[in-house]
Amino acid sequence: VTVFVPRDAAALAVGADKVAAAIVREAAARNLDVTIIRNGSRGMLWLETLVEVRTPQGRMAYGPVKAPDVPSLFDAGFLTGGAHRLAHGLTSEIPFLKGQTRLTFARCGVTDPLSLEDYRHYKGLKGLEAAVAMAPADIVKQVTDSGLRGRGGAGFPTGVKWKTVADAKADQKYIVCNADEGDSGTFADRMIMEGDPFVLIEGMAIAAIAVGATKGYIYTRSEYPHAIAVMQEAIEIARREGILGASVLGSPHAFDMEVRVGAGAYVCGEETSLLNSLEGKRGIVRAKPPLPALEGLFGKPTVVNNVMSLASVPVIMDRGAQFYRDFGVGRSHGTIPIQLAGNLKHGGLYETAFGLTLGELVNDIGGGTITGRPVKAVQVGGPLGAYFPQDLFDTIFDYEAFAAAGGLIGHAGIVVFDDTVDMLAQARFAMEFCAIESCGKCTPCRIGAVRGVETVDRIARGDAAAIPLLESLCNTMKAGSLCALGGFTPYPVMSALTHFPADFDRMKEAAE
Ligand code: NAI
Ligand code: SF4
Repeated sequence: VTVFVPRDAAALAVGADKVAAAIVREAAARNLDVTIIRNGSRGMLWLETLVEVRTPQGRMAYGPVKAPDVPSLFDAGFLTGGAHRLAHGLTSEIPFLKGQTRLTFARCGVTDPLSLEDYRHYKGLKGLEAAVAMAPADIVKQVTDSGLRGRGGAGFPTGVKWKTVADAKADQKYIVCNADEGDSGTFADRMIMEGDPFVLIEGMAIAAIAVGATKGYIYTRSEYPHAIAVMQEAIEIARREGILGASVLGSPHAFDMEVRVGAGAYVCGEETSLLNSLEGKRGIVRAKPPLPALEGLFGKPTVVNNVMSLASVPVIMDRGAQFYRDFGVGRSHGTIPIQLAGNLKHGGLYETAFGLTLGELVNDIGGGTITGRPVKAVQVGGPLGAYFPQDLFDTIFDYEAFAAAGGLIGHAGIVVFDDTVDMLAQARFAMEFCAIESCGKCTPCRIGAVRGVETVDRIARGDAAAIPLLESLCNTMKAGSLCALGGFTPYPVMSALTHFPADFDRMKEAAE
């Protein structure tokens, strides 16, 4: 009998290794033949450790399983899908999973992440096989036509970026995968690296062939040790199997890659700062232009793409541009892996076509708050994203709709807060975060964020005159900062002030 116990960091954090060991122990004691596969996570984090059993009907789910539950699972006959208080029936029928459109995460949680055989069995490498048979310019065209936009947050058309690099003349070009994933409440990059590393390798190899790059780097954070280990092992397997190296899948294209580990500065997720860090320099932002597409790593034309952008490419190459493009709304095509986090009953990864409303995501899919209290605010797009009140719950999840509502979808992380949150404290936190993480290159951010903390503190002491000052400071930071860190910090601050003015009215509170 095959039993799946995730090796994803979220599962490990709640004792997946102990669960796996308990299953081995219990099976041996009962003389039962059990094979354990350490799969990726299905993304239903409230059910971790989610143990699955392969049965003739399909995979049956049990969770959240703790090691002490294991004997009772055996007693209940879970190896044949027996009933148990932790049983959820067929995994594929769990509403949270059933409602999704999994294109990028199609294999995550399904396969053994380090089994190339599994990867091929579930349509892996089909995109790369198609790409090696195509002219590079046609690959770029297919990605452009798919409508794929940068999933790191900015939503810049991936195909246009690739074309810029492809058209640049140089003796060396690079593919850099931004896996720094610094946004609060986000974990999609980590999940795919731990749960389906070959899809990222495949996406990077396709990008390399498309633009004429021969070397790739995955830049990730030291806080992701499991992702680093899985990626490194997967790269070695890919090299052994002729996916990477002097001849990619027997083609005339050479491509190899390695993993580089940052030291955990938020700003190193900004692409130029990341490139400096990769070059062994301090992670300080570079002025643009020149764009990294023209002068990137070591001054050479470089594709810098987020993990999600690159991992979405194989399915586009396999199923075609139109297939991908048909998902979504407006100018936001395809699917987006949304990460539901914070005070939610059902937190996890939800991949869906663009177009759900924020309210559907929080209330229907996320199940509302775990505390049972009303939702007060939802921060979308990481620490630089705006706070949305319930009034804005009909905002459609797409790049333009969020921008029109004064926010951004960023890396698609959603962090939910109930009515106990103090939005003045959240505004202060945004400024404090910026002050700590600022690279120091430009004045509006380096000085502005520190003054921002002081100004919020003045408001907290009941100095209402400091409110227009905070607004003015935010405008300066927004207009004058060199990169998104200083430039976007005003989003959480101003949205807190605009949508939750009562929390800033400390004079009134003091009077009461
Ligand atoms: P940006 O709009 O300056 O650039 C987006 C991308 O397009 C960059 O790679 C840029 O080099 C490229 N680009 C722009 N014009 C181009 C052209 N004409 N030809 C070729 N390439 C071109 O945005 P930026 O500063 O790179 O990213 C900001 C976003 O990052 C924010 O929206 C935020 O949501 C997101 N972010 C994501 C985080 C994460 O953890 N994933 C953390 C922090 C911020
Ligand atoms: Fe550095 Fe902040 Fe300026 Fe960005 S906005 S370049 S992080 S000082």
